Amino acid sequence: MQVCRTKADIRTLLDGWRRDGAPIVLAPTMGFLHDGHLSLMRLARGRAGAQGKVIASIFVNPTQFGPGEDFDSYPRDEARDLDMLRSEGVDAVFAPDAREVYDPAAQTIVEPVELAKILIGKLRPGHFRGVATVVTKLFNILRPDAAVFGEKDYQQLAVIRTMTRDLDMDIEIIGAPIAREADGLAMSSRNIRLSPADRAAAPILARALDEAATLAPTGITASRLRSHVRATLEAEPRAHVRSVDIRDAATLDSLSGPLTRPAVILLAVSFGPVFLIDNRVVHPASEVP
Ligand code: PAF
Repeated sequence: MQVCRTKADIRTLLDGWRRDGAPIVLAPTMGFLHDGHLSLMRLARGRAGAQGKVIASIFVNPTQFGPGEDFDSYPRDEARDLDMLRSEGVDAVFAPDAREVYDPAAQTIVEPVELAKILIGKLRPGHFRGVATVVTKLFNILRPDAAVFGEKDYQQLAVIRTMTRDLDMDIEIIGAPIAREADGLAMSSRNIRLSPADRAAAPILARALDEAATLAPTGITASRLRSHVRATLEAEPRAHVRSVDIRDAATLDSLSGPLTRPAVILLAVSFGPVFLIDNRVVHPASEVP
């Protein structure tokens, strides 16, 4: 497995592979990998095939963290990440530092418009501008045929799909299902920062989503479902509920009245300093898959 720190090195490597006709599939990460990331690598391998090349990037992108957020305390362990990627059969890793990615004189950003202002975008202003800008840069540096992103970051996936469509980026975007711990907690690099008591309480997110999936086919309205989920979360005293939303699963438009089409429940909950998100697509009786 090759590890490249500079744009020039990774471009030279990929140009050679591209000349050989190998499809290139990217799995972007911020490192501190867990089994959820490894499932992205496996999906990437499935798309690339045995002859294709799987590239992971490891970069804790400063521009997607706001002032007072956890950029400095975001967990990092590159040596462990590289071992995990090597064991998974990843072909190359792009692990630049911030100076390699961002020219201090840069004048251009990628600004998703309405989609970036709602939901997590309200709680983290500027977050999706940072994500869209770095993902565009990764796409331009690495020029992959396809890229894999986790469905846990549901809104991020929507922002990236919309961006590739709007900006005519010829890259297939593949969503990877959420990987969960045995007790249901969605895997996240941030879970390591939960105190033991918060870690024990955090599966409440998955339980609230399970309840919502059971209630969705009963004819319940979107607002009652939302109140039910919020009440379940608020019954856990360690959980600081930041947002509970129910949106059209395909468009992220607001919903009202009884559910008539697949809806996504989106949760953002803090436990102490640790910000967790989770989501689940639920179906009304007429749409149960
Ligand atoms: O989902 C993430 O880990 C990050 O937001 C991404 C897509 C790697 C961009 O920094």
